[in-house]
Amino acid sequence: MKQILKVDTGNYDIEISDDKFSQLIDEVLDFTKNQKRLFVVSRKVYNLYKDILNLCECEVLILNDGEKEKNFKNYLKIIKTATQRNLSRNDVLIALGGGVIGDITGYAASTYMRGIDYIQIPTTLLSMVDSSVGGKTAIDFQCVKNLIGAFYQPKKVFININFLNTLDKRQYLSGLGEVVKYAFIEDNCGYKHALFFFEYLTLCCEKLLEKEPMTLMRVIEYCLNLKIAVVNQDEKETGLRKILNLGHTFGHAIESKGKYRKYTHGEAVVQGLFFVFNYAYKNNLISYSYYKLSMDLLEKYGFKKAKFSYKQDELLEIMKKDKKASTDKITFIIPCDKKKVQVVKMSQEEVYTMF
Ligand code: GLY
Repeated sequence: MKQILKVDTGNYDIEISDDKFSQLIDEVLDFTKNQKRLFVVSRKVYNLYKDILNLCECEVLILNDGEKEKNFKNYLKIIKTATQRNLSRNDVLIALGGGVIGDITGYAASTYMRGIDYIQIPTTLLSMVDSSVGGKTAIDFQCVKNLIGAFYQPKKVFININFLNTLDKRQYLSGLGEVVKYAFIEDNCGYKHALFFFEYLTLCCEKLLEKEPMTLMRVIEYCLNLKIAVVNQDEKETGLRKILNLGHTFGHAIESKGKYRKYTHGEAVVQGLFFVFNYAYKNNLISYSYYKLSMDLLEKYGFKKAKFSYKQDELLEIMKKDKKASTDKITFIIPCDKKKVQVVKMSQEEVYTMF
């Protein structure tokens, strides 16, 4: 099975397949045949797949996984390795791993010699449905997530669902958090062909939880069609693209309070979804029936609202530092109708009423 999606912004293709890994690597090598390559590979992925992928050692740089690793030191490691291996302006970096590897490799590509090609090969569900597409690249700095970064589009994204066979349950569910998010923004995206993604996710839940290949391919394709429609209208997040941050304002704050260890990104986003849905329902922005349907969908996937002992002031301080915050207001994406959200800028006083 193979699906090709075209992204106008940046003019690149996304390939979604269940090809054998040898076929995937042949394709990647063919796509970059006239270039010197540097594969930036997550250590976890390298340990699991080194014999199957059979990459040339001289083309590999291994980095550790986890948000803590999305830092300046690892960025420099990529730049230094690219320099030592004489990569020129015509050469290519290839990210092979989850969102952290993709973000940091993309950022290194955007700055090395004023910008060289890069390719994304995402290996987690979260990076397949979100971070590998749309050109957001970044590193974290001084405890602020994605403080240094650039919008820089990849030359190609190769998604191979077979990588998900070794993804642990927690990380898989974390990716499903971002998947479910798309159901709540479907009608904002401006994707011309009706998907009924909300309904589809309700129907296919068991199969998706079992990682059934056809369902996975369809779901990834659905999510990406929605994301592509958004990014094609607003590459640099001046307006519409903000909707992709549904659940992220609160999510980033608890992720940061948990020092990026207690909650995965997807788990934090799911808690952010509960937070904004509760606010929307309490303030009559959505009907009870839609609130209930949404809660049922989250519950079907096993997501539960957590209790936090974090102080509201501390969460607010982090939200203020979030790059989505304009000077004195904090931006939230709030459900306002079935499968629809709105961007709302809130004062600190208003945010306190949300808790
Ligand atoms: N992850 C949200 C975006 O790409 O805009």
